[in-house]
Amino acid sequence: MVISNRVAVPKARGAAGAQGGLAGALNAALKDRGGVWFGWSGQESDERAGNLDIRRNDGVTTATIDLPARDVDEYYNGYANSTLWPLFHYRIDLARFETRTGASYERVNDRFASSVLPLIEDEDLVWVHDYHLIPLGDRLRARGVKNRIGFFLHTPWPPTRLLTSLPFHERLVRTMLAYDLIGFQTGEWLSSFVHYCENELGAVVDHDSGRITHEGRTTIAREYPIGIDWHHFQAQGQLPEAKAAQERLLASSRDRTAMIGVDRLDYSKGLPERIDGIGRYFDQNPDRTRDLLFIQIAPPSREDVESYQQIRELLEQKTGQINGARSEVDIVPIRYVNRGYSHAELFGFFRAAKIGLVTPLRDGMNLVAKEYLAAQDPDDPGVLILSEFAGAAQQLGCTGADGKDHGALLVNPHSPDALAMAIGKALDMPLAERKSRYEAMIKTVREDDVQSWTADFCRDLAAD
Ligand code: F6P
Repeated sequence: MVISNRVAVPKARGAAGAQGGLAGALNAALKDRGGVWFGWSGQESDERAGNLDIRRNDGVTTATIDLPARDVDEYYNGYANSTLWPLFHYRIDLARFETRTGASYERVNDRFASSVLPLIEDEDLVWVHDYHLIPLGDRLRARGVKNRIGFFLHTPWPPTRLLTSLPFHERLVRTMLAYDLIGFQTGEWLSSFVHYCENELGAVVDHDSGRITHEGRTTIAREYPIGIDWHHFQAQGQLPEAKAAQERLLASSRDRTAMIGVDRLDYSKGLPERIDGIGRYFDQNPDRTRDLLFIQIAPPSREDVESYQQIRELLEQKTGQINGARSEVDIVPIRYVNRGYSHAELFGFFRAAKIGLVTPLRDGMNLVAKEYLAAQDPDDPGVLILSEFAGAAQQLGCTGADGKDHGALLVNPHSPDALAMAIGKALDMPLAERKSRYEAMIKTVREDDVQSWTADFCRDLAAD
């Protein structure tokens, strides 16, 4: 039984970039293993709120409920996306702390627990996902659920001193100890969580096994880096749509090198900072405007939240400024696209782009980085420029025995100079270096895929 706020209903499947990594990963996990995926339908309804809608599509059974309009506003737009999301992405300046939205968060977690309860069978493993549903395990325990229940956090977990700025932080974290197993994307987020448990709750931690014991209950916390659905993505890359997308981009970029970014339009993705870095590159290299074309695909996200409206405006302004200053009658340096594309099309775009720019200010993992690599031609691969603050950097930013970096070009996304320098380096990188960097990264992308992530987590959850 998989439970998450967002469920990939078939009509939304076309726009891969718009859904974030969670929906694609859970879809893959369920297709392979079977089970039921429970969550919010994405719809508001006061009359039908809480009624189960069960469907079977493409080998996956989904069970969804609508939420009342007030809870969509207070729980989803409010506590989840205006309090926890910014706080977990180190943006305390954007976080809002309202008791009203916190109450709605608890109410919705209770509603999820009551609605999913009749679907849980005795032997089921129950796997809860992401920051929307932190207290859900505790709410299920309160209703007598004795099954093994696990939790996976797709986002970063913030350092203790940041988390303590959340009113009632202790109440929230205590509920997590109702889970049997808690998974994080990286060792960094895991150690922040463990630090909190030791220092704020006074829990006893066995650092080798990840066992956290508090008030007579033991839970295990470990690191499980999520991967992509490698085989599915490769199969998408064989479709005619992929080839057509690749050709379309190559033909329209003519003799310029295409550089691509694909991100939900979210302030954590570092998009304005990225545009500043590109602006800096052109300022420092005005003679290269004809060599580089940047394509930013950014499907709008969480549009009812003010900080998302602001980031959209800022981005329009910044791309407009650079295009105004640097365009000529026959070239525009930045193509900024507010829509999502299918996986097949993204594969084609990634393969046509010789530089992939993945520069979030903070990110749990970032699967776009892995998809970019998975789409490359091994004989002529592109270069990945990756933020050192993405979880993916811990796997893809390899340093060799010689002390030199061999994987992605790691950058500090806050620094326009660092971005400009990495762009210049990527643009001029010889084939031999591109290949050796690609080879240093591709094995983990291929082998540590979403299937092995699911298998590892479920194996540990099932073990007593
Ligand atoms: O991966 C992080 C995440 O917040 C998921 O939980 C979520 O489904 C995805 O990004 C997209 O965001 P949303 O569901 O708010 O559209």
